[in-house]
Amino acid sequence: MKKILLVVCSFLILFSLSSFAMAETVHTDDGSQKITRVERMKPMNETLRTIAQRFSCRAYDGRLPEKEKLDAIALAAVQSPSAMNRQPWQVIVITNKPFIEEMDAEGMRILAEAEDKSAYERFMGRGGNLYYNAPCMFLILKQPGTDMDSGIVSANISLAAASLRLGSVICGMAAIPFNGPKGAFFKQKAGFPGGWEFGIAVLVGCAKSSGTPHEPDTSKIRFVE
Ligand SMILES: Cc1cc2nc3c(=O)[nH]c(=O)nc-3n(C[C@H](O)[C@H](O)[C@H](O)COP(=O)(O)O)c2cc1C
Repeated sequence: MKKILLVVCSFLILFSLSSFAMAETVHTDDGSQKITRVERMKPMNETLRTIAQRFSCRAYDGRLPEKEKLDAIALAAVQSPSAMNRQPWQVIVITNKPFIEEMDAEGMRILAEAEDKSAYERFMGRGGNLYYNAPCMFLILKQPGTDMDSGIVSANISLAAASLRLGSVICGMAAIPFNGPKGAFFKQKAGFPGGWEFGIAVLVGCAKSSGTPHEPDTSKIRFVE
């Protein structure tokens, strides 16, 4: 009986916490345009709940998630839409922690030597790592001029990770070691095929602590009807 009560209470708490957005139409004076504000409401399904709950995770406990989950995320990556279905990507899943740490150290070294120290100081303030002790990097390689497609792949990866209760963060800074003096070595070690370039990376792992999704700015939404 106690167990049932506990389950029911947990469900009610989770349900009440997961409220997010509700649409409301506002008419403009000239009547030609309607702007719809989006207020808080409960996500309508599991996909919207995942989107609402995702946050950029910047602290990992270092444990590698189960292979089955990494496979599922990799599949979600290549299920992304792309212009004319060209699929201009390669998805490299790096789970070699010493390799990730080697790139992290080189990235931090490059940032420390940069004239503008703001990025270096930001990462020092976050624990001194570029990759936050993540045990896994999904590295998206792209064909020149296909940034949009890579971006969509990174979104699929983050959302798939969130749906599996894993932490993730899209990481543009992962480009730094590939563009530095040891870039050719790192590219060779990661297995960049010729003609492919860094698109974006997504760090994935078990979150060390919970995080908060950013406050959505609904004033940026406009409906023209
Ligand atoms: C293209 C792109 C590159 C990003 N690069 C980094 C990065 O290098 N390091 C990092 O900590 N976060 C990075 N982020 C995460 C953003 O900082 C984060 O999405 C933003 O602050 C909003 O927070 P949220 O993801 O928790 O909603 C990147 C996000 C995007 C979309």
